[in-house]
This record gives sequence, structure tokens and C-alpha cells, in this order.
Amino acid sequence: MTGTTNSLIDKASGLRVLSVANQKGGVGKTTTAINLGTALAAVGERVLILDLDPQGNASTGLGITNDQRSLSSYEVLAGEVSLSEAIQETLVPDLHIVPANADLVGLETAMMSEANKPYRLRDAVSTWVAEQHSGASGAGLFTYVLIDCPPSLNLLTLNAMVASHAVLVPVQCEFFALEGISQLNESIEQIRASLNPELEIQGVVLTMHDARTGLSKEVALNVREFFGPKVYETVIPRNVRVAEAPSHGKPILLYDHDCPGSKAYVELAREIIDREKMYQAA
Ligand SMILES: Nc1ncnc2c1ncn2[C@@H]1O[C@H](COP(=O)(O)OP(=O)(O)OP(=O)(O)O)[C@@H](O)[C@H]1O
Ligand SMILES: [Mg+2]
Repeated sequence: MTGTTNSLIDKASGLRVLSVANQKGGVGKTTTAINLGTALAAVGERVLILDLDPQGNASTGLGITNDQRSLSSYEVLAGEVSLSEAIQETLVPDLHIVPANADLVGLETAMMSEANKPYRLRDAVSTWVAEQHSGASGAGLFTYVLIDCPPSLNLLTLNAMVASHAVLVPVQCEFFALEGISQLNESIEQIRASLNPELEIQGVVLTMHDARTGLSKEVALNVREFFGPKVYETVIPRNVRVAEAPSHGKPILLYDHDCPGSKAYVELAREIIDREKMYQAA
């Protein structure tokens, strides 16, 4: 299959593919992928998290050990296995993962001579969607894929954005929050103009908000001014339980399902589902 002739995953498939991306490091991409994925699954969606970061933090945070990563996103992108072969279950019902490991660092070199390199992931996802619809997988249909991107606008992030309907941008409530955002916007524009005409920002999520500080409030206001209605009403609070959960290999909803972080991610899931319905009806 040649990626260049594939159109994006059909709306009619019922699957939405979202890249969780911001090239700024440590803003809450992985935390959002894991916990939003769990919250979506908890409200009835069937979710796949695709770990596309060589750090493999989403895999670790969902309790996937290094030994369990022999079939990873690297093998999928390198064309060695299909996406369905690399999918694993997690502790959370209806939440699945394709894990990642440090092999991904070498991907750019390994794919150097390949002509269709930005389309690798899209091709793998398209094949998987077709398989599901032909009943080959034998399981229920997935409704969301969340791709946890690395903190860089590299070939991995490009593959994610080419395979996605939309981008979800976590922005940390701290000084310099908007740093690099114009570069991210520019990249999205470029991808839309060439490789994926449908790509858009689904929304911007404010993370690690501390209601006690004036700085958080100010940053939240600035981000809302900049992005307007793209910013979700739900704000993810800074919550130590959220930071502790990954070291137990659990999403926050399993670790402490009553804490403010859990409640916020469930709210966010609801808001995202509503927004998706609006987009799909448009
Ligand atoms: N709501 C929160 N409350 C407290 N700590 C948080 C919260 N969200 C994220 N953190 C912590 O902030 C750090 C960065 O978060 P995370 O790993 O999700 O960011 P990232 O954007 O994926 O980072 P990278 O760019 O390295 O991939 C982690 O230690 C995480 O546990
Ligand atoms: Mg991360």
C-alpha cells in the first residue's frame, strides 16, 4: 500500500485519531494521554494509546514493563509487524496500548532511504481500521486513538500528525507557556498544506494549574486570549496524586479515583467527546 494515495482514516469508521503534541518538554502530554485515555474508556469509549516517544513514559505509566515491549511502535513504523500485532491490553478495561522503547531513537536513520516515511503510521492505522471493519480482529471497534508524541517536531511527531484527525495541545500553566506555540502552529499549517489537509487543533488543555497562584491565572487568561474557544473549559489542576500515579504503573483513575486530578480528566473526556460530536456533525 502506498501512503501517498491513502486518504485519512474515514470519518465513517467511527475512529478518531488525536495526537497529543507540544514540542515543549514536560507540559503534561503523557499524563494527558494516559489519564484522558483512561477517562474516555471509563465513559464507554474503546481506546488505544500509541506511545510514540522513545522515553516510553506512557508505557511505564500504564504498567508495561521493559520485557513487555518487544513488539513496540518501532516495529510498527519499521513495517516489521502490523499495528494489531503490537497492541496490548492494560489494567484498564477498554484501554489498550502500543508501547514504546528507546529503539525509536534510531528510527530516523533506519528509515532514511524510505520514500514514504511520513506515512508509515497512517498506513499502519489504515490497515488496522480496515481489518477491524472486515471483522478480522474479532473484537469491538476502537473509537479513539491517542498518540503520545515526543517533545520534538521530528519524524515521529510528523508521522503522528499525518495519521491524525486533530491535535490536542497540552499547555502548562507556567511562565513561557506559549513559548514554541507559534512553531507548533506553523508545523500544523505546513502539514495541513501538504501531507494531511484535514489536520486541525481539536483543543488546548491547560495543565498543572495552581489556583493559589496569580501566575497560573494569568497564564490561563493569556492562553485563552491566544487560542480563544479552542481552549477547553476543563482545567487540569496541579495535583500531587497525578504525579505519583505513574510510579505505581497506574492511571490516576485507578490510583485515586476521587482526587481532583481524576475528576478533571473525566470532565475533559466529556468535553472532548462533545467537541468530537460537534466536529463530526459539521
Ligand atoms: N496535573 C498534574 N499535577 C502534578 N504533576 C503533574 C501533572 N501533570 C503532569 N505532572 C507531572 O509533570 C511532569 C511532566 O509531565 P508529563 O510527563 O506528562 O509531560 P510530557 O509533556 O509528556 O513530558 P515530555 O515532554 O518529557 O514527554 C511529570 O513528572 C508528571 O508527573
Ligand atoms: Mg511525555
